[in-house]
Amino acid sequence: MPTPLVLDCDPGHDDAIAILLAVADPAVDLRAVTTVAGNQTVEKCTLNARRVLSLAGAPSIPVARGAAQPLVRRLRIADDVHGQTGLDGPRFTDDPSVPQSPYSAHELLTDVLRTGPATIVATGALTNVARLLSEEPGLAPNITEIVWMGGSTGRGNIAPLAEANSAVDPEAADLVVRSGVPFTMCGLNVTHQALVTDEVLARLDRIGTPLARVCVEWMTFFASTYRELFGFVAPPLHDPVAVARVIDPAIVRCVEANLVVETQGEWTAGATVVDLDHYTGRPPNARIAVELDRAAFWDRIVDAITTLG
Ligand code: RIB
Ligand code: CA
Repeated sequence: MPTPLVLDCDPGHDDAIAILLAVADPAVDLRAVTTVAGNQTVEKCTLNARRVLSLAGAPSIPVARGAAQPLVRRLRIADDVHGQTGLDGPRFTDDPSVPQSPYSAHELLTDVLRTGPATIVATGALTNVARLLSEEPGLAPNITEIVWMGGSTGRGNIAPLAEANSAVDPEAADLVVRSGVPFTMCGLNVTHQALVTDEVLARLDRIGTPLARVCVEWMTFFASTYRELFGFVAPPLHDPVAVARVIDPAIVRCVEANLVVETQGEWTAGATVVDLDHYTGRPPNARIAVELDRAAFWDRIVDAITTLG
């Protein structure tokens, strides 16, 4: 049976591919997409999520707008990486055919979890997930697992020691990690193994469908900003790694370790402190992704985009 899945995201170029993978891969059953501010404003992220689902031909998957601001901090967007639309590259003039749900992300997440167990994949700040756990504690047993693209066992990408999804809302990440719900972190240490190399881009281009062409344009833009901002030869496709972990855990090898999120540090807010070497004596409380099976990962993504046509 496919794993029931909700994707909470901030599309964003890599979120967009994560949505396509979750729509198409037979191992998962995407029940809903919810949005959170991060890469862009939540309005733009929601429009982008609608766009991706429309391009995927998936009108039955509801898209609900979530938090416009972090729990307590001021929002910092990543328009330098993802552009003014949050999904720069190809230009669209029409309104996406997939509508925005009349329900909020909180209402939709609650509704999905009331119907039965589901996995939450989060590829943005954890603001929506933190609110869900705070306001609906009775639903926590129905969350099979939270798999987050966020954090890092090493250095950050928005601050020396903080990754963007964590740094946007450290308080939310801290609350979710402390919740006791099974938690898996797919941090930069593993997502930087998912580089969209020229070979990968050529594989996508060979698919030859309109959707594949849009994905190539998205990746081309994403590569340009990662080159200019970070000096990457090829951009890391962060978010689909979290979806791939749910699809087939063998694709993303994890270890158990203690994870805490820094919220007090003047210079380190959002740092995900992973005790891989057992210095602290604190018991393991999370699965930490450490290695990606690149071949299997890219096969799944190419298959998904090919399937959607
Ligand atoms: O740090 C990378 C993460 O931040 C990715 O999820 C990207 O989409 C942005 O949300
Ligand atoms: Ca994201």
